[in-house]
Amino acid sequence: MERLREEKVFKDPVHRYVHVRDKLIWDLIGTKEFQRLRRIRQLGTCYVTFHGAEHSRFNHSLGVYEVMRRIVKQFEGRIHFSPEEKLLCFSAALLHDIGHGPFSHSFEKVFHTDHEEWTQRILLGDTEANRVLRTVSPDFPQKVAQVIGKTYENKLITSLISSQFDADRMDYLLRDTYYTGTNYGSFDIERILRVMRPYNNMVVIKHTGMHAVEDYIVARYQMYWQVYFHPVTRSAEVILQKIFQRVHVLYGSGYVFARNPDHFIRLFKKHITLEEYLALDEPVVLFYMCEWSKEKDPILRDLCDRFINRRLFKYIEHDERITGPEWRRELQERFRQAGIDPNYYLVEDSPSDLPYDIYRIGDDSGERIPIYLLMPDGNLEELSLRSAIVESISGKRRYDYKLYFPLDLLEDGTKDQRVVNEIKQLLRITNRAAL
Ligand code: NI
Repeated sequence: MERLREEKVFKDPVHRYVHVRDKLIWDLIGTKEFQRLRRIRQLGTCYVTFHGAEHSRFNHSLGVYEVMRRIVKQFEGRIHFSPEEKLLCFSAALLHDIGHGPFSHSFEKVFHTDHEEWTQRILLGDTEANRVLRTVSPDFPQKVAQVIGKTYENKLITSLISSQFDADRMDYLLRDTYYTGTNYGSFDIERILRVMRPYNNMVVIKHTGMHAVEDYIVARYQMYWQVYFHPVTRSAEVILQKIFQRVHVLYGSGYVFARNPDHFIRLFKKHITLEEYLALDEPVVLFYMCEWSKEKDPILRDLCDRFINRRLFKYIEHDERITGPEWRRELQERFRQAGIDPNYYLVEDSPSDLPYDIYRIGDDSGERIPIYLLMPDGNLEELSLRSAIVESISGKRRYDYKLYFPLDLLEDGTKDQRVVNEIKQLLRITNRAAL
């Protein structure tokens, strides 16, 4: 395994330095598929809420590699990794997000693409990354793809990439905290690395590290609700989805675009090539948004202008289990009466997440495998049995239904005032300042 003559370091605001000693890793970073990650933000539309959140999947991926490097180093002496296994861990960490498209969340929802499937295609297809990986051995790209796809035979290695305690999560919590300028996601990574232990096929935590782990679980819980599911970020995401949807509909109806959606046509037809997929990044999408904000079609024009200039939809809390479907139909009807198309301007959204779930052990995604503490007598104990803090947030699903709509369109003075008032009553908007 070829080493670099001199160690390379990247200055990193989260881990201070990212250290690269293997030629393989250095070469992978230089591939065009990896460099493309500079043009895809880690948190999609989050920057409309937290303006610092402009960091890319490139710097996150370097961070995951660095965390992995430290875990492997920490495990030395407790477990034997061959030189090839070490490179496997490092490569999988570095490349785990390589299949992401622009604004992944909205993009995948509308076009039904799957970044995990694209990761596999990039690793195994005719790409620079594939050629670099093959310098280790002909089946090395396949092994990296298996580790990322969680099908690799050595479960300890896959769990370092995807489990409750993996290099990916540890980096993104710290990184997203740093770049959003919030404090919710911070935890003591040095301490956690010190108390992680390989145990059969999994990673467990030495009992003395319980409080550091509690901190990490609570950090995750806080980040989901304060940052990842932030309703304003979701408003921008909803608008983005509606833009893609509108373009698709217009394209299907034979509408003549001033700026033809060339980069998206093969997506609409569902046979996009690897090369075309890799050509899609956020600057490309934003270019189209700017162009389409001048289109003749009023809906596409308005939605793009909203996205570019951050004229977002407002929202109310909404749970259809309480209001029933009739309420929604009535609201849609009033929107139509006001001349606003509810297919684009009345949107429901509901993310949910389990912060720490011990009850789905059979789930082979690996992400719900419980966290075990290694007790002084050598036995394992499940974390929530020991920690009252973790117990209190375990296995509880929290729902968050919101209904998004453009209040400014309702209030622009051109709509039938009677209908607008009826809409506001249905939406229970009595106090505008509360929105
Ligand atoms: Ni990641």
